Amino acid sequence: MPRNHQNNKIIKLPPPIFKSSISIEEALLRRRSIRFYKDNPLTLNEVSQILWASQGISDETYKFRTCPSAGAIYPLKLYLSVINVENLEPGIYKYVPETHELIYLSKGAKRDALFEACLNQEWIKRAPLVLIICATFYKIKARYGERGIRYVFVETGHCSQNIYLQCASLNLGTVAVGAFDDEEIKRILDLPKDEFPTYLMSVGRI
Ligand SMILES: Cc1cc2nc3c(=O)[nH]c(=O)nc-3n(C[C@H](O)[C@H](O)[C@H](O)COP(=O)(O)O)c2cc1C
Repeated sequence: MPRNHQNNKIIKLPPPIFKSSISIEEALLRRRSIRFYKDNPLTLNEVSQILWASQGISDETYKFRTCPSAGAIYPLKLYLSVINVENLEPGIYKYVPETHELIYLSKGAKRDALFEACLNQEWIKRAPLVLIICATFYKIKARYGERGIRYVFVETGHCSQNIYLQCASLNLGTVAVGAFDDEEIKRILDLPKDEFPTYLMSVGRI
């Protein structure tokens, strides 16, 4: 069940920007899996933009998001492991789409552990930011039965592609990582019992 984060520090993210100097076609053309990044930090504006693209609200009336979702159930939860982002302490955060905020969950990016849980993929250790896409299955299964499981993974793909395209537009590098130990990621992030990781994405400057 959802946890109460009442006493956690909240970070208000800068609002996303809806104009870009590159077209959607150019972003599609540029999209590539990029695994090696410069050491320079990401800015909070860049992180805000990526989070909005991944799960942000795009319709204030119905609270629809940038990502489609079967039955508008929105089973995805986004976590951040931050090493090097301007104005963010290194640590683990959770994105709150409804308010476009971050909840600070714990100190330290836990990268050595995440690196090992991702079968020693170097980019998971070094990237200034790693996004961990997680999901709950109970609501979507209650509505769609076993087919709901499929929908969660389809939705994860939508979310990941949004991140890829937003990074291409910002001239940042990212790669989707599907090779990881589910139980280890759950343990490292101390996820609630009903949340499971579906994908990781390292992000950095190229
Ligand atoms: C389901 C899935 C899982 C993937 N897992 C990994 C992974 O664990 N590590 C990695 O470096 N790349 C991973 N990739 C990225 C692919 O290697 C990459 O998309 C492919 O080589 C094509 O390159 P491109 O994305 O630059 O077009 C994954 C991609 C998909 C779709």
